[in-house]
Amino acid sequence: MTATKLAFDDFGKGPVIVLLHGYPFDRSMWREQIDSFSAHGYRVIAPDLRGFGESSDKLQPVVDVDRCEPQRQAEACPTVTTMEDMARDVAALMDELEIDRAAICGLSMGGYVAFEFVHLFPSRTSGLVLAGTRAPADNDEERQSREQQAQRILAEGMNGIAAASLPKLLAPRTLAEQPKVVARVREMILRADPHGAAAAQRGMAARRDYSDDLPDISTPTLVMVGREDPIRPVSDAEFMRDRIRKSRLEIIEDAAHMTNLEQPGVFNQALMDFLGSIH
Ligand code: MLT
Repeated sequence: MTATKLAFDDFGKGPVIVLLHGYPFDRSMWREQIDSFSAHGYRVIAPDLRGFGESSDKLQPVVDVDRCEPQRQAEACPTVTTMEDMARDVAALMDELEIDRAAICGLSMGGYVAFEFVHLFPSRTSGLVLAGTRAPADNDEERQSREQQAQRILAEGMNGIAAASLPKLLAPRTLAEQPKVVARVREMILRADPHGAAAAQRGMAARRDYSDDLPDISTPTLVMVGREDPIRPVSDAEFMRDRIRKSRLEIIEDAAHMTNLEQPGVFNQALMDFLGSIH
């Protein structure tokens, strides 16, 4: 599978941090981080991962060649964007920008991509930030549910997902007190391309178990989690913190899954402290 050229933001000068968005979002979720870190001596690269945002036209057809021949129906040959595809796209973007090493920060699906990146390119990873993510692979039930979601969004679009997921993505306090954040998250979901989202769901279902990688990660790592995240709870974060040697954990109060949007000040301070410790 060849790497895909991604749409991206590139702001600031200094040590590089690469921000990898979650599902089904795009690079606009990092606006507060891009503004803050580029103003504080960092170069911030934020791509739209393959199939999302302005990279939604970059989907690559059918990887499952055993199941799929060109003449078969699209449903029989689902497009799958693997976490490894996304990580290789990020490495290709760094090549294009002549960036050798960067701190890699991923939220949720972006965290899975970060796991693949540090596994494939450990010497190019100066630091690792794992926010609202987890190491274990999906179980059978979770895989089935992803396939159902992929089929549903291909049939009906993103509408149903937005309504169902907001109460899990955002803490009760965010829902009650931050209407702009709520609207922003809803709009990001609604403008996601169903084909890109479905391909990523299938890629997440196919992702490997990263648990065995954890003791081998020697890169300094910051694990972040929202105290009220029902999708990737604090126990998932503690699991990673306990197994990655040079790691620390930041639990963010009054936040659920979208910690960087719900509590940007706290998120940015934790990230700033971490980056300061590795550069
Ligand atoms: C995300 O926010 O990226 C998703 O919740 C990841 C997932 O579905 O595992």
